Amino acid sequence: ADAFDEECDYLFKCVLIGDSGVGKSNLLSRFSKDEFRLDSKPTIGVEFACRKIKIKHKLIKAQIWDTAGQERFRAITSSYYRGALGAMLVYDITRRATFVNLRKWLHELREFGNEDLVVILVGNKSDLGQSREVEKEEGKLFAETQGLCFMETSAFKNLNVEEAFLQMITKIY
Ligand code: GTP
Ligand code: MG
Repeated sequence: ADAFDEECDYLFKCVLIGDSGVGKSNLLSRFSKDEFRLDSKPTIGVEFACRKIKIKHKLIKAQIWDTAGQERFRAITSSYYRGALGAMLVYDITRRATFVNLRKWLHELREFGNEDLVVILVGNKSDLGQSREVEKEEGKLFAETQGLCFMETSAFKNLNVEEAFLQMITKIY
């Protein structure tokens, strides 16, 4: 552990999940280093990035894990979820199939995640409103029925990205 780690009061592990191509890796790179790539490649295996956040005078290190949406590239599911306190479940507002698949992801979350896992539902790519296939109200309603927080984001335009991660981290705290 480096000196920085020792200064932190808490370490929160969070995981990103959702279909391939919804923008999980770009949400993470936007949040952790303010970077975005239009030509990003599918994630293979598992990656993670960290960011330190101050909440009520406590320094929190958010360690965010990112894996492949594609089954064949995924990391071992049980170890991915182990110890996670938060999960960001992401769909793409321009691809209805990624919204329909949320049920599959929730099923996995409930099988492998902690019982008190904080889950935030994120409809990403809000900058592509002209290609929208899922209305914001639908996302909101689905989140409500499942007892999740909800936000639409754009990793590309940097809309609500910080807010979504902070909401998740604050809720854990
Ligand atoms: P896997 O690693 O395969 O699970 O995909 P992923 O969910 O990590 O998706 P990734 O972040 O690699 O993004 C997929 C594509 O969507 C890339 O071409 C990104 O540039 C694009 N993308 C991600 N977020 C946004 C966004 O907010 N708006 C737009 N317009 N494009 C986005
Ligand atoms: Mg990825």
